[in-house]
Amino acid sequence: MNSKINPSYFIKTTLLCVLVGFSSLSFAKKGMWMPPNLGLKESDLKKMGLKIPISKLYNDKQTGINQAVVIFDKGCTGEVISSNGLILTNHHCGYSAVQKISSATKDYFANGFWAKNQQEEIPCPGLTVTFVRKMVNVSDLILYEIYPAMKNEERDSIIDARIRGLEKGYRYTSHLDAQIKPFFNGNEYWVTVSETYTDVRLVGFPQNGIGAFGGDTDNWMWPRHTGDFSLFRVYANKQNKPASYAKNNKAYKTANFLTINAKGIKEGDFTMVYGFPGTTQNYISSYQLAQIQNIIDPIRIQARTARLEAMTQKMNADRGVFLKYTAKRASIANGWKKWQGELKGLQQNHVLDKKREQETRFMTWLNLHLMDSSVSGKASEILQAMDAVCNAANQSIKTDEYIKEAVLSIELIQQGQLLEKVRKTISALKGNALRDSLAILKANYLAFEKDFDPATDAAVFGALMPLYFKNCAGKMPKEFINQYNQYSAQFGKWSKGLYERSLLSNKADFIAFLDAEKPSLETITNDPALKLYNAIIDYRALKINPSLATYNQAMRYWNRLYTYNTLLMGDRADFAPDANFTQRLTYGTVKGMDPEGEAGYSFQTFLDEAIAKDKPSVEEFKVPEQLKALQAKKDFGKWGENNRMPIAFIASNHTSGGNSGSPVLNAKGELIGTNFDRVWEGTMSDLYYDANICRNITLDVRYTLFIIEKMGNASWLFKEMKIIK
Ligand code: ARG
Ligand code: ASP
Repeated sequence: MNSKINPSYFIKTTLLCVLVGFSSLSFAKKGMWMPPNLGLKESDLKKMGLKIPISKLYNDKQTGINQAVVIFDKGCTGEVISSNGLILTNHHCGYSAVQKISSATKDYFANGFWAKNQQEEIPCPGLTVTFVRKMVNVSDLILYEIYPAMKNEERDSIIDARIRGLEKGYRYTSHLDAQIKPFFNGNEYWVTVSETYTDVRLVGFPQNGIGAFGGDTDNWMWPRHTGDFSLFRVYANKQNKPASYAKNNKAYKTANFLTINAKGIKEGDFTMVYGFPGTTQNYISSYQLAQIQNIIDPIRIQARTARLEAMTQKMNADRGVFLKYTAKRASIANGWKKWQGELKGLQQNHVLDKKREQETRFMTWLNLHLMDSSVSGKASEILQAMDAVCNAANQSIKTDEYIKEAVLSIELIQQGQLLEKVRKTISALKGNALRDSLAILKANYLAFEKDFDPATDAAVFGALMPLYFKNCAGKMPKEFINQYNQYSAQFGKWSKGLYERSLLSNKADFIAFLDAEKPSLETITNDPALKLYNAIIDYRALKINPSLATYNQAMRYWNRLYTYNTLLMGDRADFAPDANFTQRLTYGTVKGMDPEGEAGYSFQTFLDEAIAKDKPSVEEFKVPEQLKALQAKKDFGKWGENNRMPIAFIASNHTSGGNSGSPVLNAKGELIGTNFDRVWEGTMSDLYYDANICRNITLDVRYTLFIIEKMGNASWLFKEMKIIK
């Protein structure tokens, strides 16, 4: 099969690796490994400290640790920690689910939530937990007779049909869900067979003073003192199968849950992180890296700085606005801050130069191997082609980034899509059909409106629109310029007029409009927010998307070839595929760091340090009184260490967004913590991982147990867990 590597290659490549230096393969020796492939890493895992058989880490017979590692709420990881389907994940992973069930009278962010028994657990509509039952490499079935240099158009239709057929087959035989995804930029394909549970209930949620302590200020930073965890439970029907919420559903039963080890950790300990990293681009070329570094990241940071400032002002002035916007702001700020760390890391570590050196080595290698049969056709054109394709797209990429970050980030414009649906419905339907469709759209509007504050959004408009005008002059739809001129070229006047006139920002008017006997097509068509929305969407479709589509197609082709040939340069066991939100295992050791070559950072943090940061006047740094009292009495239950209460630790595991909530395991596969972040200096790891700099941050499970017991008074939960102390 073509995607596999001819063994005779290894002899030549070994020679070459000596020639060009093994370190040339900066992808090697780290990575997010495919659980069924861990055999390839067995000797390394054992050398590093693994004390259990590989088959315990992954098998498809319900006895592997893989079965206890779940997708939580479509974007995070969680782990099963009891036979009754108790799920441990991060506080920030449960945050939007909790926002949906919070209100001014039930302010779980201020007060926390702890169920006293299963009856008190709160249903979370829309929240899901997905178990992965099996992963299989299906490359042979998807890629036979497909040659690496084959054109996309030729290849795609064949592959798509094979994927659909095979997924169907897997679903039919397993009675479960099945999804096939590409790996190594389309050089491998794997199927994931999974089962998604939809009745998930809240069990425990520490107040923000613990679970979000340090807020956006400490986010992506070490040292860190956040108790970033929350607890949920999966419910199932009588057959223990997924079912939508019903009062009589039972807690999900399983023999496969993680043992908790609360004996503590020390520097140098072996650790593994098991979870669902979302996206990494460790095989990226210098050309795309330059786009990220010079165009994309700076625009995102610039736009979000303005947007966050506007939002935060409104949120600080009004608790009602805070409650509407806290989850939204957390996610905007999260990217904003990460990209700043990423930029800094890329610059300080001269990653672009390193990528270019790697490309030079690639060409040297290629010139020695051009006549080999496994090297793909067109290999020698790859780098030049990428350079040209990227250059041709840079302007469109810039404009599109501004459209996303500065225009469509204004909720009023973004929700123009809802107005457009209303407009289409009114113009196409009559009678009951019209009524029914409008009722659905009204429900959509109310769901959006619950967390929408027009005054806050107007402030965001005031911050973002000038930025868009300044940076995209001459490259924007006429409608924007017309409206701006209509308000005598003053952004303030424009925003005032816009929010006064649009139905979206006038709830009573909009509801009356939707309930009217005959909603007026003219009114909706003339809504200024709808006009802006349609104008930007049309502009994008006409002026931006065609060039982006060309770019994406071409880069998909060249990236596939680049990765294909890069894989020929080393030993297969040294290459892990980039993250794509499939289950992965990564491993490393508990280790402090020395970012500036000064004193460096210890590997561990403690509660007394959190309290030293206490600032009652600042929302993010308000330590709960009760927690201070526990520290004063040194009342840590069984969970302290030498009279101190540990909170978090760092280690050299290669993780990414999506790994939040991941179980952090010791050499025996026991749970020692929950992953929740990375250190600022190392956020570049999505593009370039360096084991000297990059660290993942883990919440020590002892702090989790301490908070459950002493703050939540919820030690009834300990009975269902298996804790080694
Ligand atoms: N940085 C972490 C991750 O990427 C945690 C984010 C949640 N915390 C926050 N303050 N926004 O998701
Ligand atoms: N905090 C991230 C998450 O939510 C984890 C990371 O990016 O390291 O998945």
